[in-house]
Amino acid sequence: MERKSNNVTPIAICTWAFSNASKQAGEALERNAAALDAVIIGVAVEEANLKNTTVGKGGTPDREGNVTLDACVMAPNGDCGAVACVENITHVAALARKVMENTPHFMLAGKGAEEFAYANGFKKENLLTETATQQWKEWLKTSEYKPIINIENHDTIGMLAIDAQGDIAGACSTSGLSYKMKGRVGDSPIIGSGLFLDNDVGGAVGTGMGEEILKTVGSFLIVELMRQGYSPQKACEEAVHRVVTKNPDHTNFQVAYIAMNKAGEIGSYCIHSGFAMMKYQDGKNETITSPSFLK
Ligand code: GLY
Repeated sequence: MERKSNNVTPIAICTWAFSNASKQAGEALERNAAALDAVIIGVAVEEANLKNTTVGKGGTPDREGNVTLDACVMAPNGDCGAVACVENITHVAALARKVMENTPHFMLAGKGAEEFAYANGFKKENLLTETATQQWKEWLKTSEYKPIINIENHDTIGMLAIDAQGDIAGACSTSGLSYKMKGRVGDSPIIGSGLFLDNDVGGAVGTGMGEEILKTVGSFLIVELMRQGYSPQKACEEAVHRVVTKNPDHTNFQVAYIAMNKAGEIGSYCIHSGFAMMKYQDGKNETITSPSFLK
């Protein structure tokens, strides 16, 4: 692929070992897709993956049995869009893009977002699978709300891409924490928390306990640290340290970040071991295990 002025071939990275997502996004970039198109393609893979219980269709419901999805996107020019607490729509990152492009607003939530989806050609789908229903019924027997690190928190797909023009875009999509309260919205649709980027600097996405990412505005923090000269790795470490310092209960939840700067350098860091990210570049799709605060 032709080299650009910043000497970086297209890259797609994403949270967790969502290898098909990074591959689809990376291959789209190699076909000269724009970064925003590529990240929508990438996260759509997991949104449609019925085996993924924390993103899209097949996601674990809230404690009342409703699957509610959150997503956001951010474009190289700084435009962004989001949807929160949306039911019956699988591809919520694409819907967030429609909010960005076709409304005067940043975010639509709940029924308004769902109606907007139908008006824009999205189809109504039952997101609650038989497997998720059985697991929810099992959970109801105790109704103990205690997200399991790296399992029930194995949530968001956050993806960043640099395209052949050197532009950066990002997307985030999740069904949020399993058995959350009805109406709960996490970090994933919130620009600056679940996702932030500056096309002059780089981008970051978060995954894990959304409440903690929100309280420390983690993705914004990482991008601003990179602006000050931090490497993506050091910036992710600082953002995790911020969470850890502010909350002594951090042994009981996971927070993880991945980041990429304009030069295509990447980094990742998390509280608990067990987190990995994907990177697709030059035809190579690799899983990268993240270093962690707690060993
Ligand atoms: N990080 C996803 C959530 O907390 O909803």
